[in-house]
Amino acid sequence: MSAALIVSGLRAGYGGKPVLHGVDLAVAQGSALTIVGPNGSGKSTLLKAIAGQIPVQAGTIAMGDTDLTRMSAQGRTRAGLVFVPQEGNVFRNMTVRENLRLGWDFHHRGAAGRLSVKLDAVLQLFPEIKPHMHTPAGLLSGGQRQMVAVASAMMLDPRVLVLDEPSAGLSPRNARLLFEIIDRIRQTGLTLLMIEQNVQLGLSVAEQGLVLVMGHVRHRAPASELAQDTSLAALFLGASGSHDAPATTVFE
Ligand SMILES: Nc1ncnc2c1ncn2[C@@H]1O[C@H](COP(=O)(O)OP(=O)(O)OP(=O)(O)O)[C@@H](O)[C@H]1O
Ligand SMILES: [Mg+2]
Repeated sequence: MSAALIVSGLRAGYGGKPVLHGVDLAVAQGSALTIVGPNGSGKSTLLKAIAGQIPVQAGTIAMGDTDLTRMSAQGRTRAGLVFVPQEGNVFRNMTVRENLRLGWDFHHRGAAGRLSVKLDAVLQLFPEIKPHMHTPAGLLSGGQRQMVAVASAMMLDPRVLVLDEPSAGLSPRNARLLFEIIDRIRQTGLTLLMIEQNVQLGLSVAEQGLVLVMGHVRHRAPASELAQDTSLAALFLGASGSHDAPATTVFE
């Protein structure tokens, strides 16, 4: 497998206190890996360390042949690793068009001639936001805003797109709609690393799944296999488990 992203022995945390205790993962070129796990298990910490938002205490992060471990967050974005955090991922006072434009400006500096071509290409993936181009992002619904966040990331031509809980706070209908779009993006051959609290939805668009528990990789398996693993329900619903929980439970 040709890996687009390889994380080895990653330790990271806050104020010297480790949260991740040696995490290994690899995402194959053009494939998707979905991370699931209980609240507080270190999922967001893992993505923040990969994106360069918190320092790495030990281990390495590489994208293809590029070592990202000591690179700034901005350097990683320029190298093609684009992170969409769970919150604060759009500028609410700016219009949708201005949000999309920001990514372009950051990445292409001065090559404004091709902006309209890129905008058209991205809007083809996100037709739902097309009618709202001149609306301030803060006035959109949660689902629309999340689409703007992902669309803005796509303006940066990511080699690896990293999403933290894209469906958080969305109604089931909007979450499904967003995942249809994520699936559409997948078809373009993009490499994707994602956390998703809606286990079934998150695994449905991925080849591989990974379960993170207390900063350790507890389990990794093909996503379709993991989606059918009913023992995951016990893990998410507490030590006593819930034998009543159907395999389709949304673990929140
Ligand atoms: N900024 C921070 N400063 C100090 N500790 C933090 C900080 N952010 C998270 N933590 C701690 O790190 C641990 C892992 O948190 P993290 O946000 O990575 O979990 P998570 O798996 O993403 O959880 P959730 O499913 O609730 O989003 C928790 O114990 C949390 O309290
Ligand atoms: Mg989190």
